[in-house]
Amino acid sequence: MSPTSTSTSASSDVLVIGGGIIGLVTAWRSAQRGFTTAVVDPEPGGGAARVAAGMLAAVTELHYGEQTLLGLNLASARRYPDFAAELTELTGLDLGYRRCGTLAVALDADDRAHLRELHALQQQSGLESQWLSGRECRRLEPMLAPGVRGGLRVDGDHQIDPRRLAGALLAACERAGVVFHRAWAERLTVVRDRATGAVLADGTEAAAGQVVLAGGSLSGRLAGVPEDLLPPVRPVKGQVLRLTMPQRHGPFLSRTVRAVVRGSHVYLVPRASGELVVGATSEELGWDTTVTAGGVYELLRDAHELVPGITELPLTETRAGLRPGSPDNAPLLGPTGLQGLLLATGHYRNGVLLTPVTGDAMAHVLATGELPEEARPFTPKRFSPATALTEQPA
Ligand code: GLY
Repeated sequence: MSPTSTSTSASSDVLVIGGGIIGLVTAWRSAQRGFTTAVVDPEPGGGAARVAAGMLAAVTELHYGEQTLLGLNLASARRYPDFAAELTELTGLDLGYRRCGTLAVALDADDRAHLRELHALQQQSGLESQWLSGRECRRLEPMLAPGVRGGLRVDGDHQIDPRRLAGALLAACERAGVVFHRAWAERLTVVRDRATGAVLADGTEAAAGQVVLAGGSLSGRLAGVPEDLLPPVRPVKGQVLRLTMPQRHGPFLSRTVRAVVRGSHVYLVPRASGELVVGATSEELGWDTTVTAGGVYELLRDAHELVPGITELPLTETRAGLRPGSPDNAPLLGPTGLQGLLLATGHYRNGVLLTPVTGDAMAHVLATGELPEEARPFTPKRFSPATALTEQPA
């Protein structure tokens, strides 16, 4: 598209490129701060949240070497009750926020050793989790396989329905006066070393004082962003299944149940609506979102080892989505080396969990130019060569 074929269609204080949950929460919080705000996305409310299970698993998804990320995850988990209540009060929409807790179980001696190590790491990190015998696990969740060898009860890891969350954020943005450009952003506009908006696929230009790139796994591909500032974000495919639980004889599962089976994570997330979400594969295949027989087979095989009764349930949906993976599994938040261009991307496995804290951090940085304390380790500048030599990554 040549610059002469564009026409200015609109101007705002803040332009958010990407209308997934991270882009929407940024736009909503930005508009609440009094900024005129626009979102560019052909289908706002879509993206990875259409697929995600919505576990808020700061404790059960803790990994060695990710203690800095743990701080941000916990900060966001603490904000969830007020965040969900605010959104529901504003929009009248139920988000499926369920304080159900999580049970991570072991099926064999290797899994048990792995889970014992996770328990030790959780304890060192001051997190609450309780070791249970196999019998105690089955007392909590009678549908578990008789072979379960033990587990970790984590009462603080909850769930939300990401599709409902996206719908509510969309409604909240509309109420706050956010303008939606339902088109692809074709390129970032840069004038005299400053980002000034974006050219859309139909040739119109959306001008803005500040631009937030929140394009999920596509964030590293926007034309016009200087090569050395393109976020190092890659797509990590996750296939997810949806089944329907019987509602007749008490709950099929009353909390999220998860395990590592032969090195792969499998989780079962039961919604109050009767939906049971089973996820997820983790595949590095570029922008491929094909649901494969192999992916569905592995998920059902592993989930069946945990909860044999699932094979009786109707299988209602299969889908694949793309997590925005980053080199250190942590998000990229805040200003870049290009004036006027900020990032809110790279949330990888934690996009749903990190939605509240991301909205707050981005609104703060848009208003003040500075990231709040808890978000500072996640500056995109940690990946720029000059900074990487002098500063620790998150
Ligand atoms: N956090 C769950 C997943 O990425 O599969």
